[in-house]
Amino acid sequence: MKKQIVFFTGAGMSAESGLATFRDMGGLWEQYEITDVATPEAWSRDQQLVLDFYNQRRKQLLECEPNNGHRLIASLETDYDVKIVTQNVDDLHERAGSTDVLHLHGELMKVRSSKDESLVKQLDGWELKQGDLCEKGSQLRPHIVWFGEAVPEMDNAIPIVQSADIFVVIGTSLNVYPAAGLVDLVKPGAKIFVIDPNSPTVNKSVTNISEIASKGMEELLKYL
Ligand code: APR
Repeated sequence: MKKQIVFFTGAGMSAESGLATFRDMGGLWEQYEITDVATPEAWSRDQQLVLDFYNQRRKQLLECEPNNGHRLIASLETDYDVKIVTQNVDDLHERAGSTDVLHLHGELMKVRSSKDESLVKQLDGWELKQGDLCEKGSQLRPHIVWFGEAVPEMDNAIPIVQSADIFVVIGTSLNVYPAAGLVDLVKPGAKIFVIDPNSPTVNKSVTNISEIASKGMEELLKYL
């Protein structure tokens, strides 16, 4: 039986690929007001401002490549049952070859109906425009979980986290709930590693690897 290793990743995982994190110096939430671009109220108030924000992020994502951290995680699938629970909306884990990725906060390259959230589709290119409608005639919106919205994938994430023999947290400040609460659900006896240059506080016994994602993954391999 292959050991189950679960990676719980955040924006720091993709920093070396050129994508800004949210709360670090120069991060997205220093450049933009959350209430202008990442809430349902913002969408009702100024759709174009919200569309522009995600269109820019998509354009940037299309110019990025997975980094060695992403690739090393994918390479572990040979010897481990690897599952990824990510807060990231980018597709860099998948582009690095990872086959089991759960996105808690949505996916940047997908859009969905404003009327029926089950109507989700891949976006062709980077630009979503006003007037792009779903099959029910409603404006398409980014397939992103905005602040104040439910996180439907939590129900699928919890059993994955609870079944981990090894749990690896990479590049998240653990500021945003309910996602950050997943760390508390790791089963007793499972080994927990935290890869982050600014090790976030975790109320459990963990092995901190105070490194950037790519270097931290090289370190992690020495423990496995
Ligand atoms: N390698 C590893 N970790 C890094 C790197 C790196 N190269 N660069 C920065 N970090 C770490 C920071 O030290 C910080 O702990 O990544 C973390 C980034 O934290 P945040 O910017 O808060 O991102 P995240 O935790 O993913 O945010 C959670 O908040 O804005 C919402 O929905 C959004 O999913 C996001 C959620």
